[in-house]
Parts: sequence; structure tokens; C-alpha cells
Amino acid sequence: MADDSKKSQFSNDDVLLPKTHFWESMEIVHWEGFWFPPQVVKPAIKFRSTFAAADGDVLLTSAKKTGTTWLKSLALSCTQRGGEVDGADDLAGNNPHFLVPTVEAVGYKHEPLKFDIYDAPAPRLLHTHLPYSLLPDSVKTSSSSTKIVYLARNPKDTLISMWHFFNSILRPIPLEKAVDFFCSGVHHYGSFFDHVAEYWIESRRRPEKILFVKYEELKSNPTAEVMKMAEFMGKALGSEDEVEKILWRCSLERLRNLEVNKNGSVITCVPNRCYFRKGEVENWKDYLTPEMAERIDQITRHKLEVIGLVL
Ligand code: A3P
Repeated sequence: MADDSKKSQFSNDDVLLPKTHFWESMEIVHWEGFWFPPQVVKPAIKFRSTFAAADGDVLLTSAKKTGTTWLKSLALSCTQRGGEVDGADDLAGNNPHFLVPTVEAVGYKHEPLKFDIYDAPAPRLLHTHLPYSLLPDSVKTSSSSTKIVYLARNPKDTLISMWHFFNSILRPIPLEKAVDFFCSGVHHYGSFFDHVAEYWIESRRRPEKILFVKYEELKSNPTAEVMKMAEFMGKALGSEDEVEKILWRCSLERLRNLEVNKNGSVITCVPNRCYFRKGEVENWKDYLTPEMAERIDQITRHKLEVIGLVL
């Protein structure tokens, strides 16, 4: 699929990029080794070339459908904690994607956003789906104290989440085709495997700079994982009680039932409710045939397990 695509080109003004069809509904382009929705390339170039990271900034990072909404909620709650017990927090009235913008995203329905990432004073809490290799040097350099938190998830659960998500906002496709897209890396910010591998390798090299968090561990041991994340961001939490409040505030059950997430929309054509589905581990078992699972496992072994990553 990816090879055929190289025959056609996409013009992002003066940049010519290989393109192909995604989900039978839209085009995506190949840039710097990964696939992107065409409209994010320019903001990504701007971010990479002009963003000046400052001490205290935290950049949340993730591939798509790995739990970004949860990560944004948790990180925000850790940095904004004020001891509210009744849920009188920003998340009560706003979707996490409005409160913690994804720097390269476009199509926000209500602009200006909560803040302009280039003008807002540090410390800033931001998010990107961009791969590690495309982050601004000012973020990656050892001389800045900017921290990176990466959230990873099991590939098969990520695929199933992606299938449900895109089928709810684009023309639905059968699971077999979604598996093809996922395995060939032709999806937003794909290949998923290269995305995870880049952050994993760098987090092993510089654990003081990048915290690598697994969705499954957040689910199985949320208190310890959130305490670790808060401490890493320089926002150590005082007690387990405080963590419990944050976990409740950010829980799928609570967030999905808020009015803003039932009926609102941050990005045009994406109802907020689409960000909240089951939030389960091993939900893939309800969908993938043994052959599909084995196809993904093979790539997982070849790309991730060889570098010591088990997801
Ligand atoms: P499922 O589709 O498996 O249910 P993203 O936020 O990166 O788009 O990822 C979406 C996935 O995260 C969905 O997974 C969604 O249900 C899950 N999710 C969203 N909010 C969550 C929360 N507060 N707690 C746990 N999982 C959450």
C-alpha cells in the first residue's frame, strides 16, 4: 500500500510529499519517515523550527488512540491540583483536548484556545502526536529542563480503538482493511511501531528527560503510576488521598458523562464523545481473528520486543 502511494504527490505549498488514501475517505502524506494528515505538516514544521522550550514546560506525547485524552486529564490535574473534592475543576466544563492543546492539530472549533502555545508564559503543559525525531531541538536538548511524558499502549488495543474512532467519524471500513492500514504503517503518525520505538529508545537513554508510561500499567496500578508521573513533572503529590481525587476526576466514567463530553466538540467533525469508549485492556480479543492477531504480534516482536519493549 505504501509503495503504490509514492506514485502520487501532495503539494503542501512548496513542499511535495508522497501521498496515499487513508480509510478510503481521506489523503495522508509521507513526511520525514511517518504518515500525517496533510494539514498538520505546516504546523509541525513551525513547531519544530520555532518553538522555544522553557524551564518547567512539560510536553505530553503519544501515538493516536493510546489514551491521550486520559494522559492530558491526568497531567493537567496533577499540575492544577487545588484540593477540590467536588469536581469543580477545569475538566468539569471543558474537554481535555481544549485544555491541553495538541500543538500541530488544526480544525479547532472555538479559537482562540485556552492559550497560544507560542505566547503563553512557561511553564506550559502541551501535547503532540509527533514522533520523537520531529520534536524541536529546544525540547530535546539536555540544556532545557523541559520534560517529556510518553504514553504507549498495546498495539492490538490501539488498532481496535483506532478502528472504532475512525469508523465513527469517517466512512466505516471492515476490520481487515484497518489491520492492513495499521500493519503497513499507513495511518496518522504511523507507523505506530516506529513511533513507540523512537520514544522507548530515547527514554532508556535519558530517563531523566522522558518518562515512558504504559496505558496497561496506568490501568492496573493507577496510584503508583500517577504519583510517578507527578513527581517526574516536578509536581509531586502529597498523599494517596490526593491521587485518588485526581483518578476520580479523570476517570472515564466521570469524563464521558459530563455535558461537555456528551454533546460538545473541540475539533470540527469530531464529537467529544468519540474520545471515550471502553477504556479496557485486551478489548482486542473481542474483535481480532487469530490470524490478524498473529500478523500484528509478528511486527511487535520484530520491531519492539527486539529492543526490549513488551507492550
Ligand atoms: P478504547 O477505544 O479502547 O476504549 P486517545 O485519547 O489517544 O484518542 O485514545 C482513546 C482511548 O483512550 C479509547 O480507548 C478511550 O476509551 C480511552 N480513554 C479515554 N479516556 C479515558 C480515561 N479517562 N481513562 C481510561 N481510558 C480512557
